[in-house]
Amino acid sequence: MPVPKLAVATPKPSAIASARTEAIVLGTVQGKNGPELAEGTEHMDAAFDGQLLGLLTALGASGKAEEIIKLPSMGKATADLVLAVGLGAPDEHGGHTPEQVRRAAGAAARALTGSRSALFTLSAVDLSATAEGAALGSYAFTQYKSDPGEAPLGKIDLLAPATGTTKEHRAAVKAAGAIAEAVGIARDLVNTPPNDLYPGSFADRASALAKEAGLEITVLDEKALRRKGFGGILGVGGGSARQPRLVRLSYRASKPRKKVALVGKGITFDTGGISIKPAANMDHMTSDMSGAAAVVATVVLAAKLRYPLEVTATVPLAENMPSSTSYRPGDVLTMYGGKTVEVLNTDAEGRLVLADAMVRAAEDNPDYLIETATLTGAQLVALGSRTPGIMGSADFRDRVAKIAQDTGEGGWPMPLPEELRGDLDSRLADLANVTGHRWGGMLAAGLFLQEFVADDLPWAHIDIAGPAFNTGGPWGYTGKGGTGVPVRTLAAVLADIAESG
Ligand code: BES
Ligand code: MN
Ligand code: ZN
Repeated sequence: MPVPKLAVATPKPSAIASARTEAIVLGTVQGKNGPELAEGTEHMDAAFDGQLLGLLTALGASGKAEEIIKLPSMGKATADLVLAVGLGAPDEHGGHTPEQVRRAAGAAARALTGSRSALFTLSAVDLSATAEGAALGSYAFTQYKSDPGEAPLGKIDLLAPATGTTKEHRAAVKAAGAIAEAVGIARDLVNTPPNDLYPGSFADRASALAKEAGLEITVLDEKALRRKGFGGILGVGGGSARQPRLVRLSYRASKPRKKVALVGKGITFDTGGISIKPAANMDHMTSDMSGAAAVVATVVLAAKLRYPLEVTATVPLAENMPSSTSYRPGDVLTMYGGKTVEVLNTDAEGRLVLADAMVRAAEDNPDYLIETATLTGAQLVALGSRTPGIMGSADFRDRVAKIAQDTGEGGWPMPLPEELRGDLDSRLADLANVTGHRWGGMLAAGLFLQEFVADDLPWAHIDIAGPAFNTGGPWGYTGKGGTGVPVRTLAAVLADIAESG
């Protein structure tokens, strides 16, 4: 689905009231002694003869995060509607975090579904955050509706803040638009139902995106996978009539400073296989390709923003189904690279396809390997539905976690405890795919993957089982369904590597 048109507005502040737009969005702040107006509201307040805060307070405004108060402009502005959105309480320095601004902008954009255009003065607080939040909040996926209903906000003008140059403002808004577009690509893939998105059709969509962005792409089908010995992907994908694929997408700057390998889990539907899942909520497993969606979207973005890097996404695609051709509990798979794995539970399939893909990705000798997956229900138990668990080599793990927090996607560093590793020992093979117990399930999956990464390769594993798919109500700039997590984290890590190595 397309992102809205974003533009920096440079009306004289006095002209805000006469701007040709359907709505004016301004911020409110939850002050110690009641609501306050945020930066950027001065001129609308003047248009309302200094009565704006009084009017909003009378309507129940408190300034709390994501609170929406709509006010008719009563002829005091060309726009018919004034929308005040809460930023929440300020921090100890009296300011608001970028994430507070993003969420407010996103909530405002969602509340303006059905409006064609809006001018955000909230951007006087933080331009990038407002642009990103508003664009992300203006997302809808209506491809499967006979009647799509009201369209999301289509045009967003952003009042430039007092500091910074016009050039900087334009660049910030352009980057925000590109990031929202990449998140939209990932969300669209996640939201596409599994009868239409299966390994072959996912590969086709990746090819179309690659062509558009000028990326190199290779697709291995099941015959090629067999020839090359991708036992993990073939084992997991063998139960489905829709055979697996391995897709690789590359972007290479003319003088790349570093080489980054991205890997994303692409299980287009996870029934659990022979170790079948219960029926309740099995439909959520339409999102089990969210890691794949995120890494594909991120390479496209890297090309668009011309990061001075080489970035390759390696994407194993398979459908985990029960059938007479399925792999079984008890099978031993020979993985790409030769390690053997005893399958004790066919529902621990993600780590099997990822191991193959990670070994393949490391053959290019990357400087960093970042892999992301809807890997374990244990991630939800440990960290809840919105905080990714981040594992891997200690320094790089911590760097990625810090960046993830800055983007607003969140993320918390988690250990790979040595004592759990022995629980993956197998009677028959080099390794078993599960431990015999429920403890530390997210970490055990991380330890499994670690067996397929060379010791000297900086590696991060991001478990997004909860954060990739919103099964609750909309909040901030996140609607129901695919969230696009962790596209913004991956993009920010790439930007950081491009800058600091
Ligand atoms: N795709 C699931 C993990 C998942 C669970 C993602 C909930 C999103 C929401 C994964 O393939 C899986 O089934 N993991 C098992 C592993 C277990 C068998 C060791 C799990 O978490 O139960
Ligand atoms: Mn599973
Ligand atoms: Zn899965």
